[in-house]
Amino acid sequence: MPDVTTGAAAPNPHLAPYEARGLKGRILSGVQPTGNLHLGNYLGAIRNFARLQDDYECLYCVVDMHAITVWQDPALLSSQTREIAAAFLAAGVDGTKHAIFNQSMVPQHAQLAWIFNCVARLGWMNRMTQFKEKAGKDRENASLGLYAYPALMAADILIYKATHVPVGEDQKQHLELTRDIAIKFNNDFHAPDFFPITEPLIFGAATRVMSLRDGTKKMSKSDPSDYSRINLTDDADAIAQKIRRAKTDPLPMPETTSDAEKRPDADNLLGIYAALADMEKDAVIFEFAGKQFSEFKAALTETAVAKLGPIGSEMQRLMKDPGHVDKVLHEGAEKARAIAEPILAETYKIVGFLKP
Ligand code: AMP
Ligand code: TRP
Repeated sequence: MPDVTTGAAAPNPHLAPYEARGLKGRILSGVQPTGNLHLGNYLGAIRNFARLQDDYECLYCVVDMHAITVWQDPALLSSQTREIAAAFLAAGVDGTKHAIFNQSMVPQHAQLAWIFNCVARLGWMNRMTQFKEKAGKDRENASLGLYAYPALMAADILIYKATHVPVGEDQKQHLELTRDIAIKFNNDFHAPDFFPITEPLIFGAATRVMSLRDGTKKMSKSDPSDYSRINLTDDADAIAQKIRRAKTDPLPMPETTSDAEKRPDADNLLGIYAALADMEKDAVIFEFAGKQFSEFKAALTETAVAKLGPIGSEMQRLMKDPGHVDKVLHEGAEKARAIAEPILAETYKIVGFLKP
């Protein structure tokens, strides 16, 4: 709330403890262990997890409870959970300094989620585009969990009173719902400032990576065509082949940003290149303006292999050492529970639940 006398914003009580330690806040983010971790997950989220770790206290969660909102083979779920943890580590997240863990190991997520199920309104849930996309035409047959998914996501974040959440563009609506839940809880229970109003961190040249087969569709784990995405575990040959086959249009490379924006397939590849090469998209457009796609694709392949190759091989190495990955997850879960427990206890008190 602005200060009436000076007009300045009042200090945010949730940030002050971090600022005192030279940090910018506390981060929580999550990735579902549903297989086929791809370039969109990496550029939109996981790469940023590592880039933020010096400025924030971080909790990175493999959201296995979100994964089962659609059917998961139990045997695959465990190995996919380790694979996401391996990707966090391979991308450079320091699992000794920060918490890497899986959601089901910290029961407080589910406990707070129930309370949020009672705070969130049906009208809010009905607007969620991810539910509509995932449920498809046969909505009657979607799980109740898929519908409640965003309330669990709000609990993931607020059980730690996280102040910032790095995600890809597609999660913006869920983060707005998280803010709405925090505001309504704080109001309904007369607990001003109890839960923070979380800020999304959506940044980089590729916050929404599109399919390599169709530049108007999001790159996704569930696309039946493996040629639509570059998986983090793809080797150099697979990456080269997928980029060679990536859809383009018959014209030479775009000359200007506005030209690129009208050509979704080209625009997507330019964004991917910019993100991987750590360049501004405008500079990439300038560099390749009017050239042939074949020349650009060769440069893109080289950059993609150079940046993704080491991550893929580190993931493969870690996957051969499940004992190490499990140790990281157990230690992470312990750190996470130590933060979540007192926040849940306080929440229960506010709600009026008797102490166990
Ligand atoms: P999910 O695979 O749905 O659990 O997503 C994990 C993270 O990757 C989230 O932060 C998403 O926003 C991000 N993400 C997923 N797909 C894409 C994409 N095509 N482009 C950019 N970010 C993405
Ligand atoms: N819904 C997110 C996705 O599909 C995953 C997720 C679950 C998440 N809980 C979260 C992301 C908490 C950020 C914070 O990508």
